[in-house]
Amino acid sequence: MILPSADEANDILDWANSQNPGRWTDHSRHAGRAAKTIAEACGMDGTKAYVLGLLHDVGRYDGVRDLHHVISGFRLMEEKGFSAVSRICLTHSFPIANLGVYSGQPSDCTSDELAFLSDFLEKVSYDDYDRLIQLCDALCLSSGICTVEQRLIDVGIRYGSNGWSQRKWVAVTGLKSYFDKLCGINVYRLFQEEICRSIFG
Ligand SMILES: [Fe+2]
Repeated sequence: MILPSADEANDILDWANSQNPGRWTDHSRHAGRAAKTIAEACGMDGTKAYVLGLLHDVGRYDGVRDLHHVISGFRLMEEKGFSAVSRICLTHSFPIANLGVYSGQPSDCTSDELAFLSDFLEKVSYDDYDRLIQLCDALCLSSGICTVEQRLIDVGIRYGSNGWSQRKWVAVTGLKSYFDKLCGINVYRLFQEEICRSIFG
């Protein structure tokens, strides 16, 4: 199988958290839940979306790293034969397929790793699961599901901005509109109470 079951995916995330405990696993659990809900609302495979959302950041098992978490996740999932997940480990951080879009620092990757990533992004053609996890990454704080705007500010406060930031914000808000259309409903409505709580407390 190119994809673990939901139970296997939860076990992998528990193991990853034991290697590098942190709020990133809470963020991952919310991303899995958001992905499943949105996928089911628009006729995609909810279990596949859940597993991909749950494991998109699994490379963080490898310690407190920056861009390198996408490489670590890719390698770990490739070793296990889960190619549907290894792909998501690479694509989730790039709503535009260009290395510059990454919000953090690429300096923890070797030049070979950066060349590999750059080549992958040049050739990749995103499907709706890539787009869905990119959106869910941008909908989930470690405390729960929020608006894209809240999350983009959260990332901006932690990492700052770069020359790609404006294009990234446009791309991410575009993903939200894309899934609104696909679902036939404003995606925020699927998490209305939770998003209201994140704003009003
Ligand atoms: Fe993430």
